[in-house]
Amino acid sequence: MTKIAVVGAGTMGNGIAHVFAQSGFDVSLIDISETVLDRAITTIKKNLGRLIKKGKISEEDKNNTLNRLATFTEIKSGVCGAELVIEAATENENIKLKIFKELDELCNSETILATNTSSISITKIAAVTNRPGKVIGMHFMNPVPMMKLVEIIKGYKTSDEVLKKIVGISKKLNKVPVEVNDVPGFVANRVLIPMINEAVITLNRGVAGVEAIDTVMKLGMAHPMGPLQLADFIGLDVCLAIMNVLHKGLGEDKYAACPLLITMVEAGDLGAKSGTGFYDWKNGYRNLTVASRFK
Ligand SMILES: NC(=O)c1ccc[n+]([C@@H]2O[C@H](COP(=O)([O-])OP(=O)(O)OC[C@H]3O[C@@H](n4cnc5c(N)ncnc54)[C@H](O)[C@@H]3O)[C@@H](O)[C@H]2O)c1
Repeated sequence: MTKIAVVGAGTMGNGIAHVFAQSGFDVSLIDISETVLDRAITTIKKNLGRLIKKGKISEEDKNNTLNRLATFTEIKSGVCGAELVIEAATENENIKLKIFKELDELCNSETILATNTSSISITKIAAVTNRPGKVIGMHFMNPVPMMKLVEIIKGYKTSDEVLKKIVGISKKLNKVPVEVNDVPGFVANRVLIPMINEAVITLNRGVAGVEAIDTVMKLGMAHPMGPLQLADFIGLDVCLAIMNVLHKGLGEDKYAACPLLITMVEAGDLGAKSGTGFYDWKNGYRNLTVASRFK
């Protein structure tokens, strides 16, 4: 396999494109927004520059990686010749089903269609295509170039051959694949997102402030960052979308999203990507300041 395509160039899409291109694949990066595509390439350049500074890659590696990347605003031209397509578009079931119908029509019948969804059923996504055996979940973690794990989700009809291929490709990217079953949230988000939601409830009920909650979890549980900071990195809209999928799919009240999380998303405070969440991100990622609303 030499050519792949990534649909969606946001937080995850640019990272996925980066690791594939750095591992020698030709990558088409597709988004409906030209601005997002420009931002994605700038981010990839910056992240490759960091790897040079750390002595992990050379200037030549950086240039080769960038030369393997091409951007497109249309799925049709972007997926041409791709042997694997990874969808990393907005976490919204209707958007994903529409994209998979389109991919199924446009791609060669042998092309494997993977989704980076955090929580939506792989089986349901596969069912809108004529190739359910070739549809699989490939759940990368954020930030993709740094994080070793890829959660591999086998849908009801995913073939063993496709599973084996995707496990092999993940290893080629120098990642560690872990196979899990297709239930809402899989493993990663079944455990992580309710913990984040509980942290928001704890804040909302006045048990402690933003810094106190994050410090307890960082120093007390040896987490590299607190759950509220992590929520800001993931994107509060993404966290809310996953909670809603867990709530609907697992049917238990304990998965109901915290009203504060819902309000913040409605207000457009989505975390690092929007500039404000539980923290204020306007002065950069290193200067962690609690958002004025929570001081
Ligand atoms: N953010 C995380 O930490 C994280 C981690 C793991 C998995 N995920 C999953 O990855 C996926 C992407 O999440 P994200 O955080 O990168 O979201 P994002 O909002 O940063 O990016 C999504 C991108 O998809 C694009 N898009 C929407 N519809 C499209 C279409 N029809 N064709 C092409 N592009 C389209 C949007 O323009 C946007 O740039 C979601 O399924 C999410 O659940 C996110």
